[in-house]
Amino acid sequence: MAARYFTTPIYYVNDRPHIGHLYTTVVTDTLARYFRLAGEDVRFLTGTDEHGQNIEKVAKKEGVAPIVVADRHAPTFRNLWKEFGIANDDFIRTTEPRHRVGVEEIIRLIDAAGDLYTASHEGWYCAPCEAFYPEKDLLEGKCPVHGTMLELQKEENVFFRLSRYSGRLLELYREKGVDGQPFVYPESRLNEVRSFVESGLKDLSVSRTSIKWGIPFPGRPGHVVYVWLDALVNYITALGFGSPDESLYERYWPGIHVIGKDILRFHAVYWPAFLMSAGLSVPRQVVSHGWWLRDARKMSKSTGNVVKPDDLVAAFGVDALRWHLVSAMSFGQDASFSDEDFLAGYNADLANGLGNTVSRAVKMSRDFFDGNTPPKTSTKNNSFEWPETAAASVSRWRAAFEGYRLQETAGEIRALLGAIDSYITTNEPWRARPNYSFEEISDFRSHVLFDCLEALRVVACLLAPIAPRAAVEVLRRLGIDRRAEDLRTSDLAWGQLPLNAPLPAAPPLFPRADAKEYFASRGAGAAGASKESSVIEEKEKISSKGELAGSAPVSGAASGGEGDAPSKQVFLSSSESKISIDDFMKIDLRVGEVIAAEKVEKSKKLMKMTVKLGEEVRTIVGGIATAYTAEQLVGKKFVFVANLAPAKLMGIESNGMVLAATLPDTFEASLLTVDPAVPSGAKVK
Ligand code: MSP
Repeated sequence: MAARYFTTPIYYVNDRPHIGHLYTTVVTDTLARYFRLAGEDVRFLTGTDEHGQNIEKVAKKEGVAPIVVADRHAPTFRNLWKEFGIANDDFIRTTEPRHRVGVEEIIRLIDAAGDLYTASHEGWYCAPCEAFYPEKDLLEGKCPVHGTMLELQKEENVFFRLSRYSGRLLELYREKGVDGQPFVYPESRLNEVRSFVESGLKDLSVSRTSIKWGIPFPGRPGHVVYVWLDALVNYITALGFGSPDESLYERYWPGIHVIGKDILRFHAVYWPAFLMSAGLSVPRQVVSHGWWLRDARKMSKSTGNVVKPDDLVAAFGVDALRWHLVSAMSFGQDASFSDEDFLAGYNADLANGLGNTVSRAVKMSRDFFDGNTPPKTSTKNNSFEWPETAAASVSRWRAAFEGYRLQETAGEIRALLGAIDSYITTNEPWRARPNYSFEEISDFRSHVLFDCLEALRVVACLLAPIAPRAAVEVLRRLGIDRRAEDLRTSDLAWGQLPLNAPLPAAPPLFPRADAKEYFASRGAGAAGASKESSVIEEKEKISSKGELAGSAPVSGAASGGEGDAPSKQVFLSSSESKISIDDFMKIDLRVGEVIAAEKVEKSKKLMKMTVKLGEEVRTIVGGIATAYTAEQLVGKKFVFVANLAPAKLMGIESNGMVLAATLPDTFEASLLTVDPAVPSGAKVK
């Protein structure tokens, strides 16, 4: 089995995570999940970068040891990834002993290659970047990434002979990697890296004497290892490099680094040069993505313009945010983040697209096939060639994943949902067809609804790498009990929906959001406050109220058995006692004719009725036996709720409810009668 090792950058622990960190982690998780589904032996690493000047500064300000700051923030990242369903195999902290031994080992190898020397050094230092910039790169004395004023720093450092590696680096950029892909994705960024190297590499200072918080530099007392050399090595120390057991290193290295474009130079120039010097393999590929922008500037803790989407997660759930991050950014390019775009995408793709299509198809199947999936598979039906359509979608989706065109993978899901929707509209499985026999209509509906539910099963599998919990919930609603992690390419083949399998009744998967109401409910104060709070703080507030932040819209067993209850939809439905017309229209009221009735034995009040609702005949049980006899009911038409979740009453499954007024004195039921000329099945509104 082919091995594939994905890494995220390891995040600084001087502050809480924001949407930029979340993005990198979610897209890496999505890629790792895809390649696992594709049958590869995938390993996925993330972690925290805990040394360096930034953390030392925060600790000094708080009057605590730097490890206290690190110990506080590392679990924040770890827990956030858990909440977001990130399926990493390992989490490394650079303050762990296993990391330190690997760093010492690589430095020993680099030193043995004659690539280290000591010299004095002066340069413009950006603390948030933990990097020196040449004067020509500064923008009016400011950092080109953060826009902050830089300090001129002078100290004695250990230098790495980076200049020696220009030739070999340029050769690396010319070669195609094992997958026939360039060393850096996208290729436009490879060109930037190439020009940087071609413009001449200076040796790199790889130790610091001005700070104490770092790994002591082997053989250079008073120096600590430069935080970037320290941090980059995490990718191999987490595989046991430099330890007595290097089996993971042998199995998984070289890896694929998914990073933001801000740290490309470190990954595509310095890191391969360190590895070349140490005689180790260079990374398999560096995949660099763009920035989420706010105010046309990269979001960053040091500029304070970060989006912390706590409210969005609390109201719409983790998977809605995962979907937005993957589907709304063209991978590799920059994009700007706004709550408005999030809500528009949520309503279009998740509420209307996925949620609505699943509810419609499942409801029809439940109605026509006694609460089950259809009894027959599709036959070749002239209107649409589903097996071919789905297979073509799957292969475009796979090609998009393999070429890192993540937004296209989401586009395939959207397109397939659109095809299902127009297939339903064209075939109108609900429509009466007077010239069909009972068998013919049942076969027709079975074929059409099998196609719809089966296509939705494929959609769920395609969704699994991006939004795994939502995918599992869609499968559950189709009567399939699977973990996202167990899906494989064989699941993408057409024709696997179980026949005649029970379809559970379920509330809306992604209830439609009212943007106006959402923003009004946050109010100016609330919006301001949320900018100050982190994903985690907000989650804690929410859980203390007994609600689950991560699971809001997908209720029931949505998160793969993590026990989330349907949480309050604070922003999704009006809290007033009045309901909207849309709410009312959710109730499917129909005229039905009672064709048989009998009092339920052992019950004083219950009457079992056989009711004809248009083409369909159902059993409906009502508490009317003290007011009516069976004879009084048969042949009469009343109003029924046709889309009520089934319920068992005295062991009889009731599929609907009869409407009745309650008499003020006796509390007896008085059924709502209908003009006998109105046909059964007619809609009441
Ligand atoms: N600790 C270093 C990385 C060392 S890797 C050996 C670091 N950490 S960081 O906490 O600043 O996180 C950097 C990463 O977060 C970026 O490379 C990028 O992947 C992600 N993002 C941070 N801000 C971002 C945006 N505004 N938009 C998208 N991703 C960004 O650098």
